[in-house]
Amino acid sequence: MKILVAGGAGYIGSHTIVELLNSGYEVVCVDNLYNSKLKTIKNIVKIASKNIPFYKVDCTDKKKLEKVFLKEHFDTVIMFQGYKAVGESVKEPLKYYRNNIDSALTILELMDKYSVHNVIFSSSATVYGKNAKSPIKESDDALCLNEITNPYGETKAMIEKILMDKSNADKNFKAVILRYFNPVGAHSSGLIGEDPNGIPNNLMPYIAKVATNKLPYLNVYGNDYKTKDGTGVRDYIHVVDLAKGHVAALKCFKGNKNNLFIYNLGTGKGTSVLDLVNAYKKSNKLNVKYKIVGRRLGDIDKLYCNPKKANNELKWSAKLNIESMCESSYNFEKNN
Ligand code: UD1
Repeated sequence: MKILVAGGAGYIGSHTIVELLNSGYEVVCVDNLYNSKLKTIKNIVKIASKNIPFYKVDCTDKKKLEKVFLKEHFDTVIMFQGYKAVGESVKEPLKYYRNNIDSALTILELMDKYSVHNVIFSSSATVYGKNAKSPIKESDDALCLNEITNPYGETKAMIEKILMDKSNADKNFKAVILRYFNPVGAHSSGLIGEDPNGIPNNLMPYIAKVATNKLPYLNVYGNDYKTKDGTGVRDYIHVVDLAKGHVAALKCFKGNKNNLFIYNLGTGKGTSVLDLVNAYKKSNKLNVKYKIVGRRLGDIDKLYCNPKKANNELKWSAKLNIESMCESSYNFEKNN
């Protein structure tokens, strides 16, 4: 099987390519390097000891992307090419709708034209909306746009809907929607990991900057939530486990009568902000200074999944613990 990975130089895409290569798949990568670096592709090659064709192409550019479809004959596409900064999406909604929806439609139209029938879409727990009750099951999806709190999340829900409609209309077309919980950590080599531009918005990359003295302290957004210690609870999943979830999802394309599959990829365990801070300190034997500040707009008290559907049907489960997430995060941050 030959797979096109769109947005493969990014955080989750790069780890997924490594796992695909380790499992013997052929991979072609396209990325516009808007939020990623060419160095990541070189590091993927180093880790896997295998070369991959790389094209610097923006997936909204149909002409250029079509050339890749003509040159490389793949049978599956994995779509990671979306913008993903929640706060930025609130400030610049048009940019998010244009890029995320346009790139997905461009890929899907080219898949149609060149008879590529299989797609995996990188979705998010954000589609469960602000009233989500944890542990959350796949059937609890809101897909109800007024419950999603930001344009980034709305693009995820819209693309899910496009895939649902297409799979209804075309029985040859097969789509797997993977709803990620909170991916964190890095590859054990320390060569690839999460490398956000500017000051990180998400918790783990922020802690990593505090741990390496690049930022003075962490702001803990609220300690008055209805959780065991008052801080927000999330389902952190090691990015390598998440990447392996994509490899496991490829089995949906083989000899199955269904043509639409939806899975939560998470551990099913809730971890609070202070749990994560303490685990980071303990695993890496260092201090992480923090201050409790007010709640961040749009945050909810807890969000963790019921991962049983993926466990049973994909024969996949998250194996790596919080300590391993914290160690690998620090290892990557130190090296970069
Ligand atoms: C957010 C998005 C989600 C996206 C994910 C990864 C929403 C509702 N969720 O998840 O769609 O897929 O990012 O990009 O927009 N926290 C702090 N201090 C910080 C940063 C975070 O205390 O500096 C807390 C938050 O309040 C929250 C927890 O840490 O309780 C996790 O936050 P974060 O890492 O930003 O992820 P989510 O908000 O869960």
